Amino acid sequence: DEHLESSNKQEFQMQFKAPRGTTDILPEERPYWRLVESMAEKISENFGYSRIDTPIFEDTGLFVKGVGDSTDIVEKETYTFQDRGGDSLTLRPEGTAPVCRSYLENGMHNLPQPVRLYYLVPNFRYERPQSGRYRAFHQFGVEVFGEAKPYVDAEVIEISWQFLSELGLNDLRLTLNSIGDKECRPHYIGQLREYYGARQTDICDDCSRRLENNPLRLLDCKEEKCQPIIDEAPSSIDHLCLDCESHWNGLKSHITDIGIPFQVDNRLVRGLDYYSRTVFEIAPPIEGRTSVITGGGRYDGLVEQIGGPKTPGIGFGMGLERVIENLKRSEIKAQQDDRDIVVVAHIGDEAIRKASTLASQIRNSGGAAMVGPSRGLRSQLRYAASVGASHAVIIGEDEISTGVYKLRNLRKSDQSEATVEEILTFFGKEED
Ligand code: HAM
Repeated sequence: DEHLESSNKQEFQMQFKAPRGTTDILPEERPYWRLVESMAEKISENFGYSRIDTPIFEDTGLFVKGVGDSTDIVEKETYTFQDRGGDSLTLRPEGTAPVCRSYLENGMHNLPQPVRLYYLVPNFRYERPQSGRYRAFHQFGVEVFGEAKPYVDAEVIEISWQFLSELGLNDLRLTLNSIGDKECRPHYIGQLREYYGARQTDICDDCSRRLENNPLRLLDCKEEKCQPIIDEAPSSIDHLCLDCESHWNGLKSHITDIGIPFQVDNRLVRGLDYYSRTVFEIAPPIEGRTSVITGGGRYDGLVEQIGGPKTPGIGFGMGLERVIENLKRSEIKAQQDDRDIVVVAHIGDEAIRKASTLASQIRNSGGAAMVGPSRGLRSQLRYAASVGASHAVIIGEDEISTGVYKLRNLRKSDQSEATVEEILTFFGKEED
């Protein structure tokens, strides 16, 4: 018996490992995932959002157009491949562009607006893996279409904030900024270019490049020598047009009314091209780009950009791996539910058939059951304990001849006797 178990542990050489930047979500991690996923569903539904799931891959063009060809994501992080039919497809690097595509394709723009959607989906980015940054990761996100007023910006921020605080993550910071819209941003970018143009010799190589093709990103450079220059740079909120200014003030009032503390951060510009006006992030009070839990903002031009009618939009994406890492860092436990499952143990060849039938009968009457492993009784009971079973039924030769089985409560360690009928009544869940 013991021998059998230990001889299973053979030495061997791994031929395959999970690809770099990916992890397996093992059964012992499931309680965390169940917790965050059910919380995401509960909170979203409470705010009136409906779940949407889009395919894992899309036409490459959707992300080139939607996310922007000068973004890091599209320039160097997509998993793009040609399928056997010759189409270029890309594994979803983010959730917003696909949801916009689906909104249009499924005529949701004809529904009463706004349309409120949420998703829990895997994403893929070819990034340099490190703690908090993976090549395959999961996002909880929401997107709202067809409402331009700032109450809905505040609403999506509130969803994210409430989700995190109900999980017990209270020590978080919300940062906000407005990057203007297509009316006022060109003027602001002009100011930024002029300011940086006069300081070309003092900035890093990346920033010289950004000055050319993505000037907003100059503001979130992490190079030391660029920091004093960023500190003095013109800020977008000082260059908003009247409409953007009133949106920005409206947003701050709503957030204040809801009672969420925030900081305005002039450097917050986000890494995707589709944003206009509101951008925001929620992060724990530790430094570093990979600590940001939630990133989001308004994207009023995106639906039009991919061929639809002019439609305002706003949403966020939140990395679930990062949420779970923060739960663990804060020593917040996810409840491992004890399973009320029966292990049907057996002694002898005849008994294994009876065990198999009984397990099936228990399941058919609404209970949970599995057959004990084909080893000795003690080992079967150890197995039952290791899978967290609540009960064991024991079937041996005597039990077969009398039709009365042993029923052991593994949590209380007491044992009684029961017929098949009694067992099925005991474990079966009455439908009501
Ligand atoms: P994002 O800032 O690229 O925005 O991602 C949002 C969040 O996803 C990040 O704050 C982080 O928690 C998580 N995340 C991103 N990349 C990784 C990674 N490599 N490993 C682990 N977690 C990661 C977006 O994706 C936008 N679609 C958000 C949005 C929705 N904006 C409007 N609507």
